[in-house]
Amino acid sequence: MVRLLFVCLGNICRSPAAEAVMVHLLEKEGLGDRVFCDSAGTSGWHEGEPADERMRRHGKKRGYNLTSLSRKFIHPSDYEAFDYVLAMDESNYTNLAALDPSGRYHPKLHKMLSFGEGSVEDVPDPYYGGAEGFEQVLDLLEDACSGLLTHLRQEGKL
Ligand code: 4NP
Repeated sequence: MVRLLFVCLGNICRSPAAEAVMVHLLEKEGLGDRVFCDSAGTSGWHEGEPADERMRRHGKKRGYNLTSLSRKFIHPSDYEAFDYVLAMDESNYTNLAALDPSGRYHPKLHKMLSFGEGSVEDVPDPYYGGAEGFEQVLDLLEDACSGLLTHLRQEGKL
């Protein structure tokens, strides 16, 4: 079982969307029982809340089911429990790296879009923007999830 944890700031927009896109892709590929996906936020500001209604609505239009409730990234148990910790942007990455000053878990920490084909490096925070921001998040995540699946296969993890 490969274990993937997607992380953003609030765990109500980008990381629950990443989790849902990846689960959908894995199920389509018949790999749903080989990979465990979860998500968390660095802030804990929205702990216990469902994903943002706008993110859920835009995801649903593409067939994604955003079901998880927001929770805070728990250091170090989340680093121990997961094989990949996938940060949505540079700020999330910096915060996650700062929780691990020894660098012990550094090999597990990646920026999500490092697995994408495009030149964009960060999934932009859609929280204060309009509808197009949520669509852009999904476009970027579909590309990166596909690249992540290819990576897992190339690494012999699937
Ligand atoms: P997320 O988006 O990190 O993609 O879940 C945000 C959600 C909430 C806030 C910021 C970003 N906030 O400021 O409450």
